[in-house]
Amino acid sequence: MAETGFGFDTLMDDSSGTIAAAMAAGRDFLSETATSGLLGKVGATIDVVPAAQYPDKRWFQKSYGRSVTDAPEDLLVGKGLFYLTEQRQLFLDCTAGHYQMTWGYEQPDLTALLLDGIQRGIVWDDHSNIPSAPVKQLAAKLIELANPGADLDALQQDDERLNTVLLGTATGSVACAAAMKISLRYYEENKSERGAPVFVTLDGNYHGTDVFAQYLRGMWPQYFTNVEVVMVQPNDSDELEGVFAEYGERIAGFWAEPIMMNREVIAIEPCYLQLARRLCDESGALMTIDEIQTGFWYPEVLMFHRFDVEPDLLVLGKGMTAGFDPLAALVYKGKFDILAQYDAISTNGNAALAAYLGLGCIALVQRHAEQIGEVGSYYHDKMAELAGQFPEVLVEARGSGHMTGLKFRRVDDALAFHRAAVASGLWLRVHAYHEGHSTILTKFALPLTEQVADYATDRFAELLRTLA
Ligand SMILES: Cc1ncc(COP(=O)(O)O)c(C=O)c1O
Repeated sequence: MAETGFGFDTLMDDSSGTIAAAMAAGRDFLSETATSGLLGKVGATIDVVPAAQYPDKRWFQKSYGRSVTDAPEDLLVGKGLFYLTEQRQLFLDCTAGHYQMTWGYEQPDLTALLLDGIQRGIVWDDHSNIPSAPVKQLAAKLIELANPGADLDALQQDDERLNTVLLGTATGSVACAAAMKISLRYYEENKSERGAPVFVTLDGNYHGTDVFAQYLRGMWPQYFTNVEVVMVQPNDSDELEGVFAEYGERIAGFWAEPIMMNREVIAIEPCYLQLARRLCDESGALMTIDEIQTGFWYPEVLMFHRFDVEPDLLVLGKGMTAGFDPLAALVYKGKFDILAQYDAISTNGNAALAAYLGLGCIALVQRHAEQIGEVGSYYHDKMAELAGQFPEVLVEARGSGHMTGLKFRRVDDALAFHRAAVASGLWLRVHAYHEGHSTILTKFALPLTEQVADYATDRFAELLRTLA
């Protein structure tokens, strides 16, 4: 280190070196143990990693574990699909971090690319008025992905096509907010004489933590008085037609996620989105597809291509940079390029190094597309088999590919399954805190193999047996 007081030991208050030693031993263990060896130890305490005293969470907000001051069980180090906690328990991460670590922890090609980028002088961030080459290149790549095979010169002139990218947003919430503002501004400029605008959203939606995004899922109703939200049940075509018939041209926007990772992994049917597209066209509403969860997780890279619809606005984030620095994007039709320069940015959202990683992440998805498709189907099919084997406990498997959940008949069973899974080293999520919700969620990182899929589903079967 160039300066004393600037090393890990002082910055991390680790003068005894125990945290550094635990991290080093943990990394060695994860990289030197073969997958079969790691699978054999999931849930176990890994004694070759020395115990250490870690910072606690006393300054965190209550909802993030402020009360946990002794023996925090947080993440120590990770590799691929596995991680070790600070208490040295080995976990199989069935959710790719918080759904954003596309390639798991420490993917070697991406780590090498990151170091390469730093050595080449790619900056970490800079002013959004002077985007450096990786940011511009990523914009071009997203357009190419949104319009496979298109003649790019013709596309650039065609404002009816997805030919514009807003890449200056750090998180998905800001990219979603940009799409909401575009929908509002467009309404104001073209349809305001119809009355207060209406947003049609799917019940159980999640489009970020911005206050208006939260309004779109039913929060803060008392503060928004001149814009309405109508929530519809996903895949209920009759209801959607009824709502469009009732509100017609007052509808400013329709929003959907292809797979509702915040509502029990409900997959939206292509015919439903096609209907929504037609209804939006008829009423002049803007259709937004939020691919923050599904983007970069399927062989097509962007899942909307499966639905044979072109949204007006497409939101991307999370997995785009494989978890390295948040960077999100809004890809939209040129005719909706109606916001002014600072109407929708994060000032740290012009992250060149993150964009470079984003290009690497996309290249990996494209390179491994076939395998991603195959393993994804294999895993989903195995989850569907479980639903067939335990019909008294499970309703069905939901979602698609690596993003697959299990819908339980009883909320208590879903909660018990979740508790037992986490206690035994399988990190997954549960939706069981809203009326009628009873689903466990997985979203494996793309390095998932058939071996790991077999292991995970066998372990799920064992847990289901205790509930049957
Ligand atoms: C579908 C969807 N939209 C928007 C967001 C918000 O993204 P971010 O957390 O990056 O702000 C999320 C985050 O989980 C999401 O899943």
